[in-house]
This record gives sequence, C-alpha cells and structure tokens, in this order.
Amino acid sequence: MADVKPLKITETVLRDGPQSLVATRMRVQDMIPVLEKLDEAGYHAIEAWGGATFDACLRFLDEDPWGRLRILRHRMPKTPIQMLLRGQNLLGYNHYADDVVSEFIKKSVENGVSIIRVFDALNDTRNLETSFKAGKKAGAHMQGALVYTTSPYHKPEDFVRLAKEMVQMGADSICIKDMAGLLSPYGAETLIKQLKAELTVPLELHNHCTTGLGHMTALKAAEAGVDILDTALAPFSGTTSQPCTEAMVATLRESPRDTGLNLETLNELAEYFTGVKSKIVNEFHVNPNFNVNPKVLLYQIPGGMLSNLRSQMAGMGIGDKLDEVLKEMPQVRKDLGYPPLVTPTSQIVGSMAVMNVAMGRYKMIPREVKELIRGRYGKTAGPIDPEVRKLAIGDEPVIDHRPADDIKPQLKTMRDRLDEAGYPGLSVEDVLSYSLFPDVALNYFRSHR
Ligand code: CO
Repeated sequence: MADVKPLKITETVLRDGPQSLVATRMRVQDMIPVLEKLDEAGYHAIEAWGGATFDACLRFLDEDPWGRLRILRHRMPKTPIQMLLRGQNLLGYNHYADDVVSEFIKKSVENGVSIIRVFDALNDTRNLETSFKAGKKAGAHMQGALVYTTSPYHKPEDFVRLAKEMVQMGADSICIKDMAGLLSPYGAETLIKQLKAELTVPLELHNHCTTGLGHMTALKAAEAGVDILDTALAPFSGTTSQPCTEAMVATLRESPRDTGLNLETLNELAEYFTGVKSKIVNEFHVNPNFNVNPKVLLYQIPGGMLSNLRSQMAGMGIGDKLDEVLKEMPQVRKDLGYPPLVTPTSQIVGSMAVMNVAMGRYKMIPREVKELIRGRYGKTAGPIDPEVRKLAIGDEPVIDHRPADDIKPQLKTMRDRLDEAGYPGLSVEDVLSYSLFPDVALNYFRSHR
C-alpha cells in the first residue's frame, strides 16, 4: 500500500480510563496480573501515572503512588510509561515552589516515568517553564499539551503559536488535549493539518467521547496525519473516557494508518479488564454508566465536573437549578477571559456559576475566582471583564509576572514539618507526597511508616 504510516497507540486503561469512568479506583493489585501482556502488546506508550492517580492512591486506595510506579516499571520494561502532569500544579491543586516541581519531576523519572505530558489549565507557558527544564534535565521525553477549548481566543492559529512556543521550550512532541470532547471531526482535521504543516515534532491526540464525537474525531485525526492516538481498552472506553482501542484498531485495518496491533491480544486484555471493572464497581459502589451528552458542546463541561456541580448545588439549596447553572457557565467563562475548563479552572468557573445562580451575579465571589482575576493562576487567553474585576478585587493590582516567582522554596520546610510530626528520615518521595497532600500523606504514613 502506498504511503503506509502506522498510527501509534497510547493505551490509557491504567490511568485516564479508570479516572474517567470509575473515579480512579483501580488498584495496582488489579493491574499486576496483566502488566506483562500489556507490555508485549506493541503500544507506543502506556499512560499509567499522574493525573488523579497520585491523590487517589493515598486518599482512597491505601497505596504508595511511588511504589505503584516502581511496580509498573519493573513489570513493563519495554513500553514507555507516560504520566500526566499539571505543570506548576504538579498533581495537586495549587502552584508549588520551583524546588518541589523540579524534585518531583526528577523522582518521577528516576522511579520509572519515560514520557511526561505536561499542561497548564490556562495554556500559560510560564507555568510550564520549570517542568520543561527539570524534565529535560532528567532525560524524559517532554510532551507539551495544548488544552483544547473553543472561544474567540482559541482559534487554530492560536494553538499553532502555542505549540511552537512549547517546541522552543524543548517539547519533544505536542498533544492536543481535548478533555471535554469538544473537538469535532472536521475541527480536528483543520487543526491537525495546520499543526502538522508547522511542526516537526510528533503530534498526538487525546480526546474523550463525552459528546458522542470521540471516535469520529479520532478517525478524522488519523486521516489528517496525527502521529499518535490515545485509546482505552473496551471496558474502560467510551462516554467520558477515550475512544475504544479495539474499535480504532479494527477501523484502521487495511488503511494506510493500520496500527499493526493484534486484535486477539487486545480482546484478551479487554476481557481481563472487564473483570477488574466489575470488581471496582462492587467494592466502591461507583457507577460507570454515563450517557453520551452532546449538551456539553454548548456548556463545555468536562467529564467529571457534572457530579461535582450537582453536589455543590445541593449544598447551596439549588439542587433543582441545573439548567440555570449550565447556562450561567458560558457567561462566567467569558467574564473570566475564557479559561479552558480543566482542573483547576473547571472548579473555579463551576463554583462561580453556582453562586451566581444561588445569590445573584457576583454577589459572593470565592477566593479562587479572585486569585484568578489577580493573575495568580497565570494569564487568561481573553481579557477579564473590567466590571467583574472591580467587583472582585476593587483597585488591587493584577500581577503580570510568572506566578511561581512569588513562591519561596518549600522542600526544606516540608521536611522540617515532617520531622516535627514525628517522621524524620523519610525518603524524598515521601516528602514530595507530603508536599502535595499533607493530610492524606500523614494518614498514610501513620499506618505504613
Ligand atoms: Co483525559
């Protein structure tokens, strides 16, 4: 066949699949029996660490996330392990000092991560500087992720500019990260062709099937020349998760983008994970049965956000006003300069919309919204509405430097605090766990150290 160019596949069944469908409740014990087979399947990479897994290990699964990583590396020696990193937020929910970021990345690579996919919720590359530096120094493959959203300030040419900036910073590849499933098949075709025309590094697509477009978008992306596609094995695919590995492999057979992966092997793997899924559902009483929701195209709400919104609304006594809150979201997004809705900006915009509906527009403004307006999360793509800014922070100045420049080194303080708490001499990895999640890490140390 002319111009054969196999599409490479990154498997997400160990990270985003369970994060999107079963609230990240997959244990390493559930993975171990199948790791060797996964390693032999011929994937480009296996996304297996980072995102919400670190927090979930310590908080819900009584697991050391670093120990998990070492097991994965040991049992999958061939296939690169990929992690998802939120730039200066690492795997937590606020900005950390540069010394914590650098050390965290160094230890991630030492313990087994080969590919680091890094993003910033606002696509502010200043929040990625330290990550890129540390990752390159540690010898990782650094992948810069473009957080995809739609707005007057998020046109294909804006993403091309951002991608080029990341390559200048040292990105070894670029990923389009479409966490809410907003990227349409033809939108993907346009965006990918423009990116491919301007970039020399490989391009990857990470999308979700939340809106029902996911598989079609993945197919058009393959046709438009994307180099790598993220997929999840059947039981952990679809709806709020990635397109299905087996379906995409079958779709592309006999095409120039044939992945070369073996469907029988994939089916055996999928069968194993079907059992794992039932076990998780029984143990944790999570419901993995989401509906496809094209409404998201209007309101831009990513996978896990709806349930968060619902519980917040119930807490404020407006449990019956979901439609109003959903309609308020695009307005709040516009007022706040069109942040993409991804952790942590999805929560920030969501809480503001809930409060606006509950108490009237901008009558009560949460601290995080004020911080966003002050520039503490970085620079938004669009301008912040001047009236909303006045209501939120009056005449207070807005910072225009890299937010982490204001954060003093933290590592030594963290170690000192652990000493005081009765845990001297812990490993650097443990100190890092504590730096990100002090309370849950201490809980874990209480029974394990
Ligand atoms: Co994702």
